[in-house]
Amino acid sequence: MTATPWQHIQLTALGGPEMLQLVTEPTLPEPGPAQVRVKVLTAGTGFTDTIIRRGQYPGVKQKPPFTPGYDWFGVVDALGSGVSTLQPGDCVADMPVIGGYTQYLVADAGRVIHCPAGLNPAEAVCMILSYTTAWQMLTRECSLQPGDSILVHAAGGAVGTALLELARELGLTVYGTASSGKHELVRSFGATPIDYHSTDFVAEINRLTGGRGVQAVFDTIGGHNWARSYRCLAKGGKLVGFGALQLTTGEESVAGLLWGFAKLLGLWRCLPDGRQTGFYNIQSRREKHPQEFRDDVMTLMQWLKEGRLHPAVAEVRPLAEAAEVHRLIDAGAVPGKIVLDCQA
Ligand SMILES: NC(=O)c1ccc[n+]([C@@H]2O[C@H](COP(=O)([O-])OP(=O)(O)OC[C@H]3O[C@@H](n4cnc5c(N)ncnc54)[C@H](OP(=O)(O)O)[C@@H]3O)[C@@H](O)[C@H]2O)c1
Repeated sequence: MTATPWQHIQLTALGGPEMLQLVTEPTLPEPGPAQVRVKVLTAGTGFTDTIIRRGQYPGVKQKPPFTPGYDWFGVVDALGSGVSTLQPGDCVADMPVIGGYTQYLVADAGRVIHCPAGLNPAEAVCMILSYTTAWQMLTRECSLQPGDSILVHAAGGAVGTALLELARELGLTVYGTASSGKHELVRSFGATPIDYHSTDFVAEINRLTGGRGVQAVFDTIGGHNWARSYRCLAKGGKLVGFGALQLTTGEESVAGLLWGFAKLLGLWRCLPDGRQTGFYNIQSRREKHPQEFRDDVMTLMQWLKEGRLHPAVAEVRPLAEAAEVHRLIDAGAVPGKIVLDCQA
């Protein structure tokens, strides 16, 4: 046992940001056989962490207390027996869904992703949940060609800005819904912002595309919104649902969302209008295709290293400020993504 005090955030009970508390441990965790101990440099934050905190995320069955944190980036600190593929000091990353808000953790050596050296840790952690979600939706859920146009909802958020930047790299024309305070950010990625508070985005897409519609819509807002997004599609286009933000904020009922799913995954697929629909979930896709997930994260880390990507890191905050960061996310007040510096 190594008597080095270290800290992590603990969710003490489901509920508000005040349930996130900093806890100090007296000794470092020891890696078992085929495991590594990781010194976590950065942890990502985002809307998904806040719904896990409230107990509204179907993919987490564990009851508090636990350490939240969907993804992390760090360096190997110690090797368990039998590990030959990694060395202390190697950069690694993972998406455990919970567990990232910590200074140290133990992980299976075969699960973590060995990343290139020399990355900015705040930018690197954006490549995991936010950018891989965006990348897989753009390239694995859809068949888009340069010159195609897409609509991105929540375009000023963590996944939204990732979609904007990657779509620009793929040569797509992008429209994005966001509140007016995030329009400059949306424009900075070469996209056209639509203020969803003051404008009917269906009419606006109709106007902006000359009535043709877009080849894909990425919609995390919810069932009622999915119906409106469907109306924005060109023939041959695809609506990808990937969340139900308005359910978690209370703006949509469970019944409304279920009806939305019935249309997204059933009714609309039967319509002979040439449009497609689907729902994307990064966690279940990784479980089915683990190598694909590794390949996609590595592609994005490499692009980051080459300077092709500049994620919208709004702020880097110390680990101890996790509760305050959740307050900002709950208020919809984060342009891009806030990253936690776990060693600050
Ligand atoms: N399925 C998956 O695999 C997967 C993976 C990652 C994330 N997600 C989901 O993706 C969503 C976004 O996550 P995130 O971390 O990027 O969130 P985020 O950074 O917190 O962004 C969410 C933003 O959505 C905007 N918004 C709220 N209502 C809106 C509406 N009606 N129309 C358009 N924009 C609206 C708000 O900004 P403004 O109102 O100020 O514009 C808010 O800040 C969450 O629901 C998350 O659970 C799903």
